[in-house]
Amino acid sequence: MKRYVLILLLPFFLFAFDQKPTALRVSDLRIEGRVNPEGIDARQPRFSWQLTGEQRNLHQTAYQILVASSEEKLAANEGDLWDSGKVNADQSIQNPYQGKTLKSRTEAFWKVKIWTNQGESDWSTPQHFSVGQLYAVDWKGRWIGLDRAFAWDTETQFSRLSARYFRKEFTPKKEIKRAKVYIIGLGLYELYLNGQKVGDQVLAPAPTDYTQGVKYNTFDVTALLKSGKNAIGTILGNGRYYTMRQAYKPYKIKTFGYPKLLLNLVLTYADGSTEWITTDDSWRATADGPIRTNNEYDGEEYDATKELPGWSTAGFNDQKWLKAEFVQEPGGAYEAQMNENMKVMETVKPVSIKPLKTGGYVLDMGQNLAGWVRLKVQGKRGDRIKLRFAETLQENGELFVRNLRDAKVTDVYTLKGGGTETWEPTFVYHGFRYVEITGFPGVPKLENFEGRVVYDDIPTIGTFTSSNPTLNQIFKNAYWGIRSNYKGMPVDCPQRNERQPWLGDRSTGAYGESFLFDNSRLYAKWLDDIQQAQKADGSIPDVAPAFWRYYSDNVTWPGTYLMVANMLYRQFGDTESIRKHYPSMHKWMAYMAAQYTKDGLITKDKYGDWCVPPESKELIHAKDPALQTDGVLLASATYIGLLDLMQQFAQLLQKPEEARTYEQQAVAMKKAFNEKFFQASTGQYSNNTVTANLLPLMYGIVPEKQQSQVFASIVDKIVKEQKSHISTGVIGTQWLMRGLAQHGRPDLAYTLATNRDYPSWGYMVENGATTIWELWNGNTANPEMNSANHVMLLGDLLIWYYEHIAGIKAQAPGFNVIEMKPDFPEGLTEVDASYRSGYGLIQSTWKKEKGQLSWSIQIPGNTRAQVYIPARSVDEIKENGKKVTAVEGVKLVKKQGDRVVLDVGSGTYRFEVNP
Ligand code: BGC
Repeated sequence: MKRYVLILLLPFFLFAFDQKPTALRVSDLRIEGRVNPEGIDARQPRFSWQLTGEQRNLHQTAYQILVASSEEKLAANEGDLWDSGKVNADQSIQNPYQGKTLKSRTEAFWKVKIWTNQGESDWSTPQHFSVGQLYAVDWKGRWIGLDRAFAWDTETQFSRLSARYFRKEFTPKKEIKRAKVYIIGLGLYELYLNGQKVGDQVLAPAPTDYTQGVKYNTFDVTALLKSGKNAIGTILGNGRYYTMRQAYKPYKIKTFGYPKLLLNLVLTYADGSTEWITTDDSWRATADGPIRTNNEYDGEEYDATKELPGWSTAGFNDQKWLKAEFVQEPGGAYEAQMNENMKVMETVKPVSIKPLKTGGYVLDMGQNLAGWVRLKVQGKRGDRIKLRFAETLQENGELFVRNLRDAKVTDVYTLKGGGTETWEPTFVYHGFRYVEITGFPGVPKLENFEGRVVYDDIPTIGTFTSSNPTLNQIFKNAYWGIRSNYKGMPVDCPQRNERQPWLGDRSTGAYGESFLFDNSRLYAKWLDDIQQAQKADGSIPDVAPAFWRYYSDNVTWPGTYLMVANMLYRQFGDTESIRKHYPSMHKWMAYMAAQYTKDGLITKDKYGDWCVPPESKELIHAKDPALQTDGVLLASATYIGLLDLMQQFAQLLQKPEEARTYEQQAVAMKKAFNEKFFQASTGQYSNNTVTANLLPLMYGIVPEKQQSQVFASIVDKIVKEQKSHISTGVIGTQWLMRGLAQHGRPDLAYTLATNRDYPSWGYMVENGATTIWELWNGNTANPEMNSANHVMLLGDLLIWYYEHIAGIKAQAPGFNVIEMKPDFPEGLTEVDASYRSGYGLIQSTWKKEKGQLSWSIQIPGNTRAQVYIPARSVDEIKENGKKVTAVEGVKLVKKQGDRVVLDVGSGTYRFEVNP
């Protein structure tokens, strides 16, 4: 009887302990990180899922994956492509496919079942993926285009080239079971079937060096087809293919030719037979449509009087159109695009509109962003509205555009008249907060405009709020800065005539960003871009794809290649990127060592500690040598850090001998480094800048006994000379916050993060920034190189937010083991942060009040956490009101310094510390 009472009461207990009962579940199923992807080309795609269960401490003991060639077979539990059988393993992310060889255009259906320490799950809901065209020979038809400019185009430095329209009609012969489009539309495409746009992507495909690789997108278009006559249409924009500056600095700016298209529409009939509609010279083409010019720097012009109503539906009269021409292939390999396309991710309402003395109006979006404006207007046929974009205003209220250099950033819309017209551009984007409006018929109102925020369609996975408003606003600015600069590649800025994927800006940034966004596929794609940009001799450029040809052979910018691969491994558990890129990394390391070693050090540097706060507030770069750090020191310290990474990569790939060689090289270079730069008597490196001392400290170069002395030099410099302010540039700032926090001055890190006077991130906020500036002195420096929307100065700030303030850090790759160890800095009383890892949601919410600490955490299924609680002894800690020692599943690991370290499994916990 007693037992029954207990069983009856059990749900109440669980409820009382905040453990809402949910049955064991497998959820969030993914393949190659994506949900039901179309047209993948990984030969061994990786499967991931998450576990949620009723009780704490849930972990997987086995799994079984079934992959079938039809839904029916999957439903009958027949894994004709792959039946993994019951695999006794705890791996729940990145499980590689090991079934029959996947063929081009295979349709695959899959599900998974798991066994855990708390029972077994049902089969998951069925999932789907399709394979793309794996080999070049799979593509039928030919590349088409119109390989010339037309009378209304101009091919000067500021190129103006109209968009090209292509169309084709076809009649399916039988009943259609399935229809797929495989498209490579360069530079950018929009795809239509029977008058409807296919997909919600914009500015697709992702940019690449088209002579090395081109991305194709795959769509299931079955639902858009009908019996009888159908029409397919594509518009091509210029993108980076017919690039923004033509006939100008060809040694630097790479351009590829006129836009071109390769498209395969594969109809699978109910009887199993197929028919292919492919690009050839039976397609019709025109460049005389409404998009008169489209240039990423200069803007888009759309003349609605030139619209072609019904051009992508059957029956349109295309007699006046031209015959599509056969054109040369771009040269690059055809690759499935595994990273997300861009999308309109958010629509924002403007906050004010003001008239200008010079005529026209200025619209304020209230936020610096990247994307465009959608216009709603009524007027006469032929009315021309001009929209010009800028990040800031001059004192007189007009746009400030000097920092945009020669980018014209102007969209023009010509009305067709006769009702309300809604328009937004197709092939350009702008970085802006303010919009100058001229030529608007009547008085424009706020309701006439919407801001469209455009970036890669990736989820936000991190949140952070705290009791400190400055920290919160900086976080928000960082969030907007990062999303502004994801454009199928990470670019430096979205507004001026640059927008290049500079490597150095992201070496540590990518890691910080990964706490906010699931950037795993974007950065995996970028590694491919970098690999494709590598020269045969091993040299890696500073910009990749190398749209700007900068092969300057330095360490700090190209070294990002290794650092990003390491980030993907640590943050997302991705070993594949390391495996794939190891040979190219190895080659680059050897190349740099062979070309630039002198006296045991790497001598080549190009950018120094880029963008330190200069001696005068008008300068872009410091001229005072005391503020700059020796280039050999920067190059060699970074190279030593990269040798350590290579050693770890080699170990991971089971290459013990190569690992040993890297280790030996690191040991030798450290020795040479200390001989050249270290003054043991003072505990200082080189000219004693913060960066000069910080890099050796963080790269493990400083002899152990002298570490505290070197750290003291750093602190002295910051506190005494800089009055507790930043003095580092892009390189030093990558280690600054962690350096201070890890070596015993978390308070000083907190001061730097919350300063509101110059130089600091808070100073940007104080001066109205809604994103992060390129320069610490972005409000006073020369506009020549002064963007208001860069992310490189974030350094390791976001890493510090998560690892040191929220206390969420990957202790094992992909957050399989989590280290939860907030610094709880003095002055900060509350933090509420979350991070959605590959295993599920991690939460850390803490509050200090009257000497007490309460801290709630959530740990996802199939992971564990080591929780570092500030307490003198375990007796001071309670979990959900109970003595922690009495709570099942919570293990005491050790006492370390002022922390009690507990080991916990999945679930939610509420700790309280009462000293
Ligand atoms: C870019 C930076 C880049 C730097 C390197 C600048 O113009 O905006 O982000 O890293 O050049 O030279």
